[in-house]
Amino acid sequence: MFTFFDLYLNKNIMNDRRNFLKTACKPIVLAALGIPVLEACSTEDDPSADVNNSNTSSTVTPSEPLIIDISDNDFESIQAVGGWLNYTSKNILLIRISESEVRVFDNRCPHQGNRDKWSYDGSTFECGYHNNTFSDSCSGSLVCYDSSLEGNTLTINF
Ligand code: FES
Repeated sequence: MFTFFDLYLNKNIMNDRRNFLKTACKPIVLAALGIPVLEACSTEDDPSADVNNSNTSSTVTPSEPLIIDISDNDFESIQAVGGWLNYTSKNILLIRISESEVRVFDNRCPHQGNRDKWSYDGSTFECGYHNNTFSDSCSGSLVCYDSSLEGNTLTINF
Protein backbone atom coordinates (compact mmCIF):
# COMPACT_ATOMS: atom_id res chain seq x y z
CA MET A 1 0.00 0.00 0.00
CA PHE A 2 1.40 3.37 -1.01
CA THR A 3 1.23 6.30 1.26
CA PHE A 4 0.70 9.82 0.07
CA PHE A 5 4.41 10.41 0.75
CA ASP A 6 5.36 7.45 -1.50
CA LEU A 7 3.25 8.90 -4.32
CA TYR A 8 4.82 12.33 -3.75
CA LEU A 9 8.33 10.85 -3.94
CA ASN A 10 7.47 8.79 -7.01
CA LYS A 11 6.09 11.88 -8.77
CA ASN A 12 9.30 13.82 -8.02
CA ILE A 13 11.46 10.96 -9.28
CA MET A 14 9.46 10.84 -12.52
CA ASN A 15 9.80 14.61 -12.89
CA ASP A 16 13.55 14.30 -12.31
CA ARG A 17 13.75 11.63 -15.03
CA ARG A 18 11.74 13.76 -17.43
CA ASN A 19 13.91 16.80 -16.71
CA PHE A 20 17.04 14.71 -17.17
CA LEU A 21 15.84 13.40 -20.54
CA LYS A 22 14.82 16.89 -21.63
CA THR A 23 18.07 18.57 -20.65
CA ALA A 24 20.75 15.89 -21.11
CA CYS A 25 22.42 15.78 -24.47
CA LYS A 26 21.54 12.90 -26.75
CA PRO A 27 24.82 10.94 -26.36
CA ILE A 28 24.47 10.89 -22.56
CA VAL A 29 20.89 9.65 -22.81
CA LEU A 30 21.90 6.95 -25.30
CA ALA A 31 24.88 5.96 -23.15
CA ALA A 32 22.57 5.71 -20.11
CA LEU A 33 20.45 3.33 -22.15
CA GLY A 34 23.53 1.26 -23.00
CA ILE A 35 23.79 2.45 -26.60
CA PRO A 36 27.40 3.37 -27.48
CA VAL A 37 27.85 6.61 -29.37
CA LEU A 38 30.78 8.71 -30.45
CA GLU A 39 29.59 12.28 -30.36
CA ALA A 40 30.59 15.27 -28.30
CA CYS A 41 28.10 17.00 -26.05
CA SER A 42 27.84 20.72 -26.31
CA THR A 43 25.33 23.39 -25.47
CA GLU A 44 26.83 25.83 -27.96
CA ASP A 45 25.28 26.53 -31.33
CA ASP A 46 25.94 23.91 -33.94
CA PRO A 47 27.25 25.85 -36.94
CA SER A 48 26.25 23.06 -39.29
CA ALA A 49 22.65 23.63 -38.26
CA ASP A 50 22.81 26.96 -40.04
CA VAL A 51 24.40 25.80 -43.27
CA ASN A 52 26.79 23.02 -44.09
CA ASN A 53 29.81 25.24 -43.87
CA SER A 54 32.39 25.62 -41.14
CA ASN A 55 32.65 29.33 -41.87
CA THR A 56 29.47 30.17 -40.03
CA SER A 57 30.61 29.83 -36.45
CA SER A 58 28.99 32.15 -34.01
CA THR A 59 30.81 35.25 -33.03
CA VAL A 60 32.69 34.88 -29.80
CA THR A 61 32.35 38.36 -28.48
CA PRO A 62 35.39 39.39 -26.50
CA SER A 63 34.68 41.48 -23.44
CA GLU A 64 37.83 43.52 -23.87
CA PRO A 65 38.39 45.99 -26.70
CA LEU A 66 40.50 44.72 -29.57
CA ILE A 67 43.50 46.95 -30.25
CA ILE A 68 45.22 46.70 -33.62
CA ASP A 69 48.35 48.43 -34.88
CA ILE A 70 47.31 49.01 -38.48
CA SER A 71 50.90 49.86 -39.47
CA ASP A 72 51.56 46.11 -39.19
CA ASN A 73 52.02 44.46 -42.61
CA ASP A 74 48.97 42.27 -41.97
CA PHE A 75 46.84 45.41 -42.20
CA GLU A 76 48.45 46.92 -45.29
CA SER A 77 45.12 46.80 -47.14
CA ILE A 78 43.52 49.30 -44.75
CA GLN A 79 46.46 51.69 -44.56
CA ALA A 80 45.04 53.70 -47.46
CA VAL A 81 41.57 55.25 -47.62
CA GLY A 82 39.19 52.96 -49.52
CA GLY A 83 40.95 49.77 -48.53
CA TRP A 84 39.25 46.97 -46.75
CA LEU A 85 40.02 43.66 -45.09
CA ASN A 86 38.17 40.56 -43.96
CA TYR A 87 40.05 39.84 -40.75
CA THR A 88 38.82 36.29 -40.44
CA SER A 89 40.72 35.34 -37.30
CA LYS A 90 38.67 37.98 -35.44
CA ASN A 91 35.49 37.64 -37.54
CA ILE A 92 35.46 41.28 -38.56
CA LEU A 93 35.36 43.33 -41.75
CA LEU A 94 37.42 46.51 -41.71
CA ILE A 95 37.04 49.44 -44.10
CA ARG A 96 39.31 52.44 -44.17
CA ILE A 97 36.70 55.17 -44.54
CA SER A 98 38.99 58.17 -44.10
CA GLU A 99 42.37 59.13 -42.64
CA SER A 100 40.75 59.17 -39.23
CA GLU A 101 38.16 56.39 -39.48
CA VAL A 102 38.16 52.63 -39.87
CA ARG A 103 34.65 51.19 -39.86
CA VAL A 104 34.32 47.71 -38.35
CA PHE A 105 31.60 45.10 -38.91
CA ASP A 106 30.95 41.55 -37.83
CA ASN A 107 31.80 39.47 -40.90
CA ARG A 108 28.83 37.14 -40.35
CA CYS A 109 26.56 37.37 -43.36
CA PRO A 110 23.02 38.31 -42.28
CA HIS A 111 21.64 35.82 -44.81
CA GLN A 112 23.06 32.48 -43.64
CA GLY A 113 26.02 33.39 -41.53
CA ASN A 114 28.93 32.67 -43.83
CA ARG A 115 32.05 34.70 -43.19
CA ASP A 116 34.61 34.12 -45.86
CA LYS A 117 33.44 35.17 -49.33
CA TRP A 118 33.18 38.91 -49.08
CA SER A 119 33.93 41.44 -51.75
CA TYR A 120 33.63 45.21 -51.52
CA ASP A 121 33.01 47.73 -54.28
CA GLY A 122 33.65 50.94 -52.37
CA SER A 123 30.19 51.27 -50.83
CA THR A 124 28.63 47.82 -50.67
CA PHE A 125 29.73 44.43 -49.43
CA GLU A 126 28.70 41.38 -51.40
CA CYS A 127 28.63 37.90 -49.93
CA GLY A 128 29.74 35.41 -52.54
CA TYR A 129 27.58 32.58 -51.32
CA HIS A 130 24.26 33.93 -52.63
CA ASN A 131 25.35 37.35 -53.89
CA ASN A 132 23.38 39.36 -51.35
CA THR A 133 24.70 42.87 -50.88
CA PHE A 134 24.96 44.95 -47.73
CA SER A 135 25.63 48.60 -47.12
CA ASP A 136 28.89 49.73 -45.54
CA SER A 137 26.80 52.04 -43.36
CA CYS A 138 26.47 51.32 -39.67
CA SER A 139 22.71 51.61 -40.11
CA GLY A 140 22.61 48.66 -42.52
CA SER A 141 22.16 44.94 -41.92
CA LEU A 142 25.75 44.14 -40.95
CA VAL A 143 26.52 44.42 -37.27
CA CYS A 144 28.69 47.50 -36.82
CA TYR A 145 31.11 47.87 -33.92
CA ASP A 146 32.23 51.07 -32.27
CA SER A 147 35.81 51.88 -33.21
CA SER A 148 38.32 54.70 -32.93
CA LEU A 149 41.56 55.34 -34.75
CA GLU A 150 44.36 57.33 -33.15
CA GLY A 151 47.47 57.36 -35.26
CA ASN A 152 47.96 53.76 -36.24
CA THR A 153 46.14 52.39 -33.23
CA LEU A 154 42.69 51.07 -33.96
CA THR A 155 40.52 50.28 -30.94
CA ILE A 156 37.40 48.20 -31.47
CA ASN A 157 34.73 47.82 -28.80
CA PHE A 158 32.51 44.79 -29.18
S1 FES B 1 25.25 33.43 -46.86
FE1 FES B 1 25.77 35.38 -47.52
S2 FES B 1 24.42 35.74 -49.14
FE2 FES B 1 23.82 33.82 -48.41
